[in-house]
Amino acid sequence: MVKKRILSGMRPTGKLHIGHILGALKNWVRLQDEYQCYYMVADLHALTSEYEDTSKMQENIREMVIDWLACGIDPAKSTLLVQSRIPEHSELHLILSMITPVSWLERCPTYKEQMHEIKGKDLSTYGFLGYPVLQAADITLYKASVVPIGEDQLPHLELTREIVRRFDQFFGNVLPEPQALLTDVPRLLGTDGRKMSKSYNNAIYIADTQDEIKRKIMAMVTDPQRLRPTDVGHPDICSVYSYHKIFSPGQLAEIKEKCVTGKRGCVECKKILLENVLKFLSPVQEKRKMFEQDLPYIDKVLHEGTEKAREFARATMEEVKKAVRLK
Ligand code: TRP
Ligand code: SF4
Repeated sequence: MVKKRILSGMRPTGKLHIGHILGALKNWVRLQDEYQCYYMVADLHALTSEYEDTSKMQENIREMVIDWLACGIDPAKSTLLVQSRIPEHSELHLILSMITPVSWLERCPTYKEQMHEIKGKDLSTYGFLGYPVLQAADITLYKASVVPIGEDQLPHLELTREIVRRFDQFFGNVLPEPQALLTDVPRLLGTDGRKMSKSYNNAIYIADTQDEIKRKIMAMVTDPQRLRPTDVGHPDICSVYSYHKIFSPGQLAEIKEKCVTGKRGCVECKKILLENVLKFLSPVQEKRKMFEQDLPYIDKVLHEGTEKAREFARATMEEVKKAVRLK
């Protein structure tokens, strides 16, 4: 039986944190056997918001892909590609942009949110408005039927579907309408209880040393009302506990019990968490170290994946151009 195709992507913003492992990568790894997977480095998407400083782009691409491989993305099973190195992404983006009403893009919730929230960056550009059109091109170029994404990306997938239907109306059925595959994951907050993000400096990175991880975990915010180890605690408002839910599943009942009865202090509780996080991360970190030392291998993986993807992309563009009568 022919396996269905999947496409998903990540913007290369550098080293990945444990939120990425739990949120996307674990799922990507799992899907590799069941589907034909295309995993894309979305460097053009990164450019839509990071155009003022692109000095780290190539480094960020390698760092991200090293983390992908360390987490178990296997180039023998999946195709790893770099978006900008396949000009068909830009070409299809341009064609799709011709039929995409500006109003669809302006009312996209992620657009409104980011324009509002991200200060210090001028996002009032043509390219940034067209972010979802580029994403539609990524997905349809490989005729992906399934797109594994987090909930935040749903509006973009919905736009892709609308653009596909509109293309269909004008030019016939060339591009299939993709389905979202929602990643059902526990949301991991940052060590300070806010959203885990590079810009808040509250994330634990795959590439962190054990000392860095220790420092971050020991500094985590706990129940603010708990001043002495014998005070009764409230795990439900404690970020350490929210991590235990993910990293200490077998010990959860005991951790909660000791906390609410004031039998264990927060320092000790954090040490248990630290041990479990290190246990979870160490195999990934070992693989990471290996790949870090072999950058030519990383470049080769990307080169070969990109070449393979480009063949598919070329064929789709031929069909698209014929349908649009550009050929
Ligand atoms: N916009 C996605 C994100 O920020 C990245 C992305 C780009 C993507 N193209 C894609 C995801 C295509 C899925 C399919 O996470
Ligand atoms: Fe949080 Fe553990 Fe302290 Fe309870 S004992 S408040 S769960 S760190």
